[in-house]
Order: sequence, then C-alpha cells, then structure tokens
Amino acid sequence: MKKIAILPGDGIGPEIIAQAVRVLEVLKRDGLAIEWSFAPLGGAAVDEFGSPYPSLTQNLAREADAILLGAVGGPQYDTLDRPLRPERGLLAIRKDLNLFANLRPAILYPELANASTLKPEVVSGLDILIIRELTGDIYFGQPRGIAVNELGEREAYNTMRYSEGEIRRIAHVAFAAAMKRGKKLCSVDKANVLETTEFWKEVMIDVAREYPEVELTHMYVDNAAMQLVRRPKQFDVMVTGNIFGDILSDEASMLTGSIGMLPSASLDEKGKGLYEPSHGSAPDIAGKNLANPLATILSAAMMLRYSLGEETAAVRVEDAVKKVLAQGLRTADIFEAGCEKVSCSGMGDAVVAAL
Ligand code: NAI
Ligand code: MG
Repeated sequence: MKKIAILPGDGIGPEIIAQAVRVLEVLKRDGLAIEWSFAPLGGAAVDEFGSPYPSLTQNLAREADAILLGAVGGPQYDTLDRPLRPERGLLAIRKDLNLFANLRPAILYPELANASTLKPEVVSGLDILIIRELTGDIYFGQPRGIAVNELGEREAYNTMRYSEGEIRRIAHVAFAAAMKRGKKLCSVDKANVLETTEFWKEVMIDVAREYPEVELTHMYVDNAAMQLVRRPKQFDVMVTGNIFGDILSDEASMLTGSIGMLPSASLDEKGKGLYEPSHGSAPDIAGKNLANPLATILSAAMMLRYSLGEETAAVRVEDAVKKVLAQGLRTADIFEAGCEKVSCSGMGDAVVAAL
C-alpha cells in the first residue's frame, strides 16, 4: 500500500485538493493500492500549530511515498515574522526531503490553443518537460554577501557552484524522464563563459553513455530562451541548473497561456516527490468555488507516474482531463465563447465522470 501525504495549504488549496482527492478515490475504488492522510502546511499550519511546517506535517511527509500539495500563502500572513511566513513552510519541506529535481511540463492542449500568446502553428501540439535542479547553483553557493571592497565601495556577490554528484543525480533524473518520453534531451548551459556550466556539460556527456538510446544535445541558455519562443516544439526534455531553470521554466509555462493548467513535481534521489500546481493560493478567488482544479489533478497524475509507479493510472487521469476539455467544459480562467463555464467542483464532477 503506497502512502500519500496530502497538504491542502491555504487560499484555493483546500478547494483544488478536494477535486484531486475525488480522482484518487475513483482510482482506489478501482483497485489502486493507495491510502492518504491530511496535514496542514503554510498559513493553515501557523493558525493551527504556530509553525508553517509543524512536526506532525514533517512526520507524515517523511513517512509518505509521495506528497500532494495545494498552495500556500495569503495576505493575512504577510505581516507575520519571516520564520512564520507560509513560504517558509514550502522551503522547509523541500529542504527537509532533499527535493532536488523540479519537473515542469508545458503542454498546450489543442482545445486551449487560443490561450497562448504565440501563433497556433508555432505552439499547437506543444508538449515539453523542463527539468530544473532545485537545491544547488548560485542560489545556494557560498560565499555570498554584500561587503566593502578594496576601493571602499560596497560590492555584492554570489557564487555559482555545482559538485559532480549534484550534476550526476539531476542528469539521471533527466535521462530517465527522456526514456519515458521522446528520448531527446537538451542540456542548457553557458559553457562558453562559465566554468560551472562547462563542467555541467562534461558530466552530462559522461552520464549520457549510460543512456545510449537518448539523443543528448546542448544549447547555450540565451539561445534556449530565444528558441523557446521561436520554435518551442523542437524540444522534448530540457535539463538545466537552478537559475537558468527558474527563468526558462517560467518562460515555457507561459507558452501554454494558462497557469491553472500547469502541474509540477519536485523529486528526491529515490523518486519520492512533492507534487503541486505551478500557481499560488489565488486569494482573490479563494472560497468562491471558481478555481481551476486541473493543475492539481494533473499534479496527481505526475505523482502516479513518478513516485507511485502507476503509469497506466497516470495516463488514465490525463486522458480524463483531455476528455473534459474536448467536451468544452471550462473554469473561468480558461473560458472562451462557445464553451460551457463550470465551477471548481463542477470541473471535478466532469473529470470523475470522464474517468
Ligand atoms: P497566484 O498564482 O496565486 O495567482 C495569480 C493569478 O492567477 C490570480 O489572479 C489568481 O486568481 C489566478 N489563479 C491562480 N491559480 C488559479 C487557478 N487554479 N484557477 C484560476 N485562477 C488561478 O499568484 P500570486 O497572486 O502572486 O500569489 C498569491 C499567493 O500565493 C501569495 O501569498 C504567494 O506567496 C502564494 N504563492 C504560493 C505558491 C506555492 O504555494 N507554491 C506559488 C506562488 C505563489
Ligand atoms: Mg520562478
């Protein structure tokens, strides 16, 4: 029996998670060996336990095979001291569980072709996966700081660093993901200027020998940023470091036009992962049954695929989502003329029916 820790969080978190749980209930009813328990994270956890990542949540998350998260944060928490802020809960759980591999698919569903700002012929059928290293690079490298230099002028610095082990483990995640898809991997670097990423490229090439079926290519990050808007469909899986991945994954997500559709996964070395929609807690629509639950439902599909070893169930959920879109059902964020507007729970009803 696989265990899932479910952390609804704040804002629209509980509403969108409720719809994903209905999907899991269908799968369980049909024989999938999963069970789950709930715990608070973020503001909800501060309210209940005085900490954004309390020990109850920590214990549940550590024991689980996978974690499904809604979103955290909200204006009512903005005046709290930094250690109590909801975002701290998210950073704490990522660090605690060593979730170093961030997977962000950017898929343009044909029914939502008008949501993209790019021309249909450029983006139609887009299905790429960006893999971002999440716990190293210039965001964490030491030394860092602000100091006064020899000339008496203030100077700020950060350090770009990657150890061989850190690159190898993200490379394996990327090659394994490419094996499950189109067997094409593009590693993004700035090897012409930065030693760190020259080393990154060297290690990627070395790991590639263990995956002879995958075609490995390399691209400089500035060109990759350009190619993502010029001809995004040339990519299948992309892998890159923390800072380049932060920027490129946000760029790629916008090609699809709709934040309410985008799932994400953050994985550790053993394939355990935390799955969450790419969006936040949307306080402006919280409690109104308006949110799009599909990013969360698609995050649950990623969880089935990457942490629970249930590829068939993952495809079943993704197919159900495609079916409701083909039926013309839309939450407010993706609504267009000629479609039928549904609520958050209404979209959940439709996905359950399609399953
Ligand atoms: P947001 O993603 O929550 O909202 C941006 C806009 O998109 C809003 O207009 C919202 O209504 C809309 N939106 C987001 N998700 C939607 C959905 N599923 N269906 C329909 N519309 C949706 O980003 P924002 O406003 O910058 O942040 C709000 C709060 O969320 C803040 O407290 C922020 O810190 C937190 N946040 C949490 C994240 C997480 O838990 N991983 C990530 C990003 C922000
Ligand atoms: Mg970002």
